[in-house]
Amino acid sequence: MQVIRVTDQAEGGQKALAILKETLAAGAQTLGLATGSSPVGFYEAVRASDVDFSDLTSVNLDEYVGLAADNPQSYRYFMEEHLFQAKPFKANYLPNGEAVDLDAELSRYQEILEAHPVELQILGIGRNGHIGFNEPGTSFDQTTQVVDLEPSTIEANARFFDKIEDVPTKAISMGIKNIMDAKAIILFAYGADKAAAIAGAVQGPITEDLPASILQKHPEVYIFADDSALSKLEV
Ligand code: GLP
Repeated sequence: MQVIRVTDQAEGGQKALAILKETLAAGAQTLGLATGSSPVGFYEAVRASDVDFSDLTSVNLDEYVGLAADNPQSYRYFMEEHLFQAKPFKANYLPNGEAVDLDAELSRYQEILEAHPVELQILGIGRNGHIGFNEPGTSFDQTTQVVDLEPSTIEANARFFDKIEDVPTKAISMGIKNIMDAKAIILFAYGADKAAAIAGAVQGPITEDLPASILQKHPEVYIFADDSALSKLEV
């Protein structure tokens, strides 16, 4: 695990862009993408860059159950706004939050992930250490699943909605096993409310109580974080 201290999202975004460029130069075909506020600086850097994704495929970590693609709070909408409209890909895959048959949707998405092995996975981290929407207690062997969101996650994500009742209570998420299958991983964490999760992920015991702690076992992880997010790490 490499922990890289950055001043802000702009610096984290630029440094991660350099890793992305190396990955693309090495022939990467599929990127794993994430939503939330943490990767926003990275997408800004990518949009302003000359990278070309027209031969690439993307797969996203997760999507809320029950939100249509044109709902501004859906992760599909987020990706269109922050990346896909500016940088067209050959194909963009996200779980379909409107699927009527969720079991069939899980199988469909799992097949997509198997057909498109991820070379570089982008991640944020939840305050409770979740990655994707894999909440504490999720098995490290978990593949794509429907998740009941924890009250703390619903509360944390309520800032993007008009009122907390509008936050979906379920999501479809890649599993922890899918995330660990990526060849390399970049995780962004900014702000003091991520400090405990980062300390646990980097220095804590590897435990399903803090999903991101499994990243200690991955051979190539870059964590870009600011002083506040690193404030609980022991030097
Ligand atoms: C959500 C997403 C995660 C994201 C996390 C943190 O729960 N499913 O993928 O990492 O929130 O979000 P933020 O970066 O906005 O703090």
